[in-house]
Amino acid sequence: MEDKELIALAAEARRKAYAPYSQYAVGAAVLTASGKVYTGCNVENASYGLSICAERTAAFGAVCDGEREFTAIAVVTENAGTPCGACRQVLAEFGPEMRVLVADASGDYRVYSLPELLLDFFGPSQLLTR
Ligand code: THU
Repeated sequence: MEDKELIALAAEARRKAYAPYSQYAVGAAVLTASGKVYTGCNVENASYGLSICAERTAAFGAVCDGEREFTAIAVVTENAGTPCGACRQVLAEFGPEMRVLVADASGDYRVYSLPELLLDFFGPSQLLTR
């Protein structure tokens, strides 16, 4: 799938963002190794700490559908904000080498790799029980 196509899907998902408190709408689209796309948006709550990021809604949707290998994610915000640390860690679990496309509302984007965004992340292999 073309980068621009994945970004367009993330932009579409961003339209559904529920962000009445921050006014910062985020859309995400995860591409899996099997070629499927799962989208998500941020969903805030009056109890602020319960809010969830767009990247994680997309990632968890993919996993709930049986997908465990991510190859890319597109994230769209007004100003090309990069994924937060918590989302980087969640993405690393399912796509340690994945590409991360970070776009602004006009469609301009930068390409990162997950290892570039989260160096030496804590992963399954570091658990002593495995
Ligand atoms: N947000 C995301 O959806 N993804 C990120 O990586 C950073 C932050 C959301 C959470 C909250 O709803 C709003 O953006 C402001 O922090």
